[in-house]
Amino acid sequence: MAEIATAQVRELLGIPPEKLPRHIAVIMDGNGRWAQQRGLPRIEGHRRGAESVRRVTEQCARLGIEQLTLYCLSSENWKRPREELDFLLQMLQQYMIEQRQRVMEHNIRVRVIGRREGLPEQVLRETDQTVAMSRNNTGLVLCLAINYGGRAELVDAVRGIAQQIKLGKLEPEEINEQTISDNLYTAGMPDPDLLIRTAGELRVSNFLLWQISYAEIWVTDLCWPDFDEAQLHAAIRAYAARQRRFGGLSTI
Ligand code: IPE
Ligand code: IPE
Ligand code: MG
Repeated sequence: MAEIATAQVRELLGIPPEKLPRHIAVIMDGNGRWAQQRGLPRIEGHRRGAESVRRVTEQCARLGIEQLTLYCLSSENWKRPREELDFLLQMLQQYMIEQRQRVMEHNIRVRVIGRREGLPEQVLRETDQTVAMSRNNTGLVLCLAINYGGRAELVDAVRGIAQQIKLGKLEPEEINEQTISDNLYTAGMPDPDLLIRTAGELRVSNFLLWQISYAEIWVTDLCWPDFDEAQLHAAIRAYAARQRRFGGLSTI
């Protein structure tokens, strides 16, 4: 599927293409509630949530968004019942296999952030294969946060920096914001411009703590399985209408 032309972005979203966010990050929440509201088991919500992932990813690829980062599994989600975790991990593994063809068709580059330790071998193997296979794709970067925690990421970054100092490769006074960014899992990626959260919760739940310092936040009460292209467009339109000041003064 080809990218939507510039004129179509204007028509579809009613905004000039230069107003598109470069990087959209999503806290995909409310799968369990979606299922419970329908008298279904929570895992059914996760199954339906995976369909939203496909829809939103393809739409971002078509719109020419540079990066989409999805919060798939947090380092705090290990507190959940074993059966739910097993299902989520199995679904992730399956997703990595099933989506390979689509990923290649849409020229998507898959990347993963989070701690590898704790994830089952099979999940890592299939994930690594999809990441390697799509490495040279030049379209949307689909970054999947798996076993991800913002504080754990900062701990790992500090360890990395301390190691460089220990080896004499870095002086403490040389540490600046760029040093920290370069030692995060997201090194080299742009910071999110737009942070979307579904299911109405007004919190960041340990997601990309460093990177979202100036992200525009957009929250919907809809649960993730109900999030579709129209919702994505609404979020992007709302983003395009915001004034980003980064601590400075408005230019208008
Ligand atoms: C988001 O949905 C998916 C994950 C956190 C893995 P939840 O499973 O958190 O759904 P709710 O918040 O319980 O409704
Ligand atoms: C955030 O959702 C994590 C993911 C979407 C993977 P949670 O459902 O885990 O967040 P809390 O517990 O409501 O803060
Ligand atoms: Mg939740």
